[in-house]
Amino acid sequence: MKKSLGAKTLAFPTPVWLVGTYDKDGKANIMTAAWAAICCSSPPSVAVSLRKATYSYGNIVARQAFTINVPNENQVREADYAGIASGKNEDKFARTGFTPVKSELVDAPYVAECPLILECRVSHTLEIGLHTQFVGEILDVKADPQVLGEGGLPDIDKVKPIIFGPEIRAYHGIGRYLGQAFAVGKDI
Ligand SMILES: Cc1cc2nc3c(=O)[nH]c(=O)nc-3n(C[C@H](O)[C@H](O)[C@H](O)COP(=O)(O)O)c2cc1C
Repeated sequence: MKKSLGAKTLAFPTPVWLVGTYDKDGKANIMTAAWAAICCSSPPSVAVSLRKATYSYGNIVARQAFTINVPNENQVREADYAGIASGKNEDKFARTGFTPVKSELVDAPYVAECPLILECRVSHTLEIGLHTQFVGEILDVKADPQVLGEGGLPDIDKVKPIIFGPEIRAYHGIGRYLGQAFAVGKDI
């Protein structure tokens, strides 16, 4: 018999992504987001949900653009910090030592030190409740050459993304390879 845990945001894992935006003065900011996922294949899109109280929310509404920066597990302290401090009163790029790079495609900065970047233009805004979901069309993905595997796509073992456990508030690295998708289930 399963035990009921109540209505909670409890499903494992979520990503730990840094949302890059510019404020009204052009100051670059990052905030950590776990309520986020790829949400459409064509046009390639990603969804991220922000509370209106975040500084980043107003930045996205004003600029209609953001970047998704995938930190690696060596950047877990910086990622946590970006989810505690606010760009309202801190320069998170200066504090972390991260370098903001102006995207040439969208009106948002990305983090030079993160291995994988998505440059996004807002295509939909959905009021859900406490969080507003921004769907961003992915105009380009940029990856450090060192994290590319055979075939030119990012290798998850080289990117080393962080995963997050909601409610238990825990960060983990990724686990071992289990098999090829659209293949291992064929023999059932
Ligand atoms: C692991 C983690 C995940 C988070 N996920 C979200 C999220 O998905 N949406 C959100 O609105 N805030 C989220 N937060 C909180 C924001 O990152 C936090 O409020 C931050 O200070 C906002 O920064 P800003 O005011 O500079 O925009 C998360 C924080 C942490 C530590």
